[in-house]
Amino acid sequence: MQQKLQLFCIPFKILLFLSLILIPSIVCYNILNPLNQSSVIGIGFLSQLILHKSASNSALESHCDYSYGNWASDETQPIQKYTENCPFLDPGFRCQQSGREDMDYQKWRWQPQRCNLPTFDAADFLRRIQNGRIVFAGDSIGRNQWESLICMLMQRVSNQSTVYEQYGNPITKHKGYLSIQFHEYNLSVEYYRVPFLVMTDRLPPRAPPEVRGVVRVDTLHWYSAKWVGADVLIFSAGHWWNKDKTVKMGYYFQEGGSVNVTMDVMEAFRRSLNTLKSWVMNNLEPGKSHIFFRSYSPVHYRDGEWNEGGNCDMNTRPETDYTKLEPEPLHNILISEFAKQMEIANRNVQFLNITYLTEFRKDGHPSSHREPGTPANAPQDCSHWCLPGVPDTWNELLYANLLKIGFRTKMT
Ligand SMILES: *[C@@H]1O[C@H](CO)[C@@H](O)[C@H](O)[C@H]1NC(C)=O
Ligand SMILES: *[C@@H]1O[C@H](CO)[C@@H](O)[C@H](O)[C@H]1NC(C)=O
Ligand SMILES: *[C@@H]1O[C@H](CO)[C@@H](O)[C@H](O)[C@H]1NC(C)=O
Ligand SMILES: *[C@@H]1O[C@H](CO)[C@@H](O)[C@H](O)[C@H]1NC(C)=O
Repeated sequence: MQQKLQLFCIPFKILLFLSLILIPSIVCYNILNPLNQSSVIGIGFLSQLILHKSASNSALESHCDYSYGNWASDETQPIQKYTENCPFLDPGFRCQQSGREDMDYQKWRWQPQRCNLPTFDAADFLRRIQNGRIVFAGDSIGRNQWESLICMLMQRVSNQSTVYEQYGNPITKHKGYLSIQFHEYNLSVEYYRVPFLVMTDRLPPRAPPEVRGVVRVDTLHWYSAKWVGADVLIFSAGHWWNKDKTVKMGYYFQEGGSVNVTMDVMEAFRRSLNTLKSWVMNNLEPGKSHIFFRSYSPVHYRDGEWNEGGNCDMNTRPETDYTKLEPEPLHNILISEFAKQMEIANRNVQFLNITYLTEFRKDGHPSSHREPGTPANAPQDCSHWCLPGVPDTWNELLYANLLKIGFRTKMT
């Protein structure tokens, strides 16, 4: 509706511009590029030109695709406004403190192609989310993003001792549940470790001998009871949905009480997403809970997989060779379809598509600079991210998307 209104309000000058310059030029363009598919209809060219000419138009910005663009080097200011001294970073992500010497990986800014990302305004975010709950549920990449968001929000808290873990627990990868309280704002930012989202379980009775455990695709993790009532939920999954972390380790899929040894991993992922979907439909209030499903976060192991000596420690700059970017992972297709279905069912669900922008950032991983105490011959970490670092940009997109939907915007 709003979009239609905006279209009617296009000033007369632009109409004049359209008829005098644009239309003849489309005609020329089509004559000169007869084989270009999109130019045949003129739409590709038209939208490019209009969007380019008025990138600052806020109506168009609200329809901007933040997922596509490029990384811009920015030496003039620190992009990230917190440091490794943020008390809520776990040691595995403090790369400088673990011996990483190059700093350039912190000096890149994501520039969407047709608009600017709104500046992350921690004070504004805190004001909007106060008296609320933010829930991150998923794998350890989700914990990476959760820690980043806490540190980004902390920048605007004047008394740092008013921010604490609910039970005084230290931030480590060994905890299944952690909740950071922002006391002054009556806000909690929570993390639940549920790598598959659904339940994993021990061996059921009468299971085939090759089965060591099961992933129950029809039963959401029992932690889900605690997600009810959250204002913003960010799900992250994907990294465990592969053969290496399931069937090759003896973890098979169970549905309706029986183990199915032939079920394909992606089929099992699809069914688990369906389980999550039913849960959302039955348990979350449509107007209250805003749901994000973060897309796949690419890994950058070269010369072998993670357990075969794969490495990324020579990377100090983002990828510039576009031919080296991996194709869209199948996980994303499933996740975005699921998000679309829920949107159609009138839920506030957004697909937070960070895969493409993250694909470039082979320079952002801890690599050999893992937490203190890691044996020297341990595999490199080319799947998590140094902080401050790439997940800060994911949170900038999260914030931008919340603004886009007018999350708790006060009517004036
Ligand atoms: C995610 O974003 C990239 C870059 O814009 C795009 O190429 C890709 O198709 C998107 N993925 C999905 C599933 O929408
Ligand atoms: C704190 O926030 C919760 C919602 O998360 C709300 O129910 C409660 O009333 C708030 N407390 C105060 C003192 O505002
Ligand atoms: C900061 O917060 C702590 C915990 O609430 C409190 O004990 C302390 O007095 C506060 N410090 C200042 C300077 O307000
Ligand atoms: C196992 O799952 C597959 C789907 O991947 C299905 O086609 C097949 O019927 C299932 N087998 C049993 C015994 O339920």
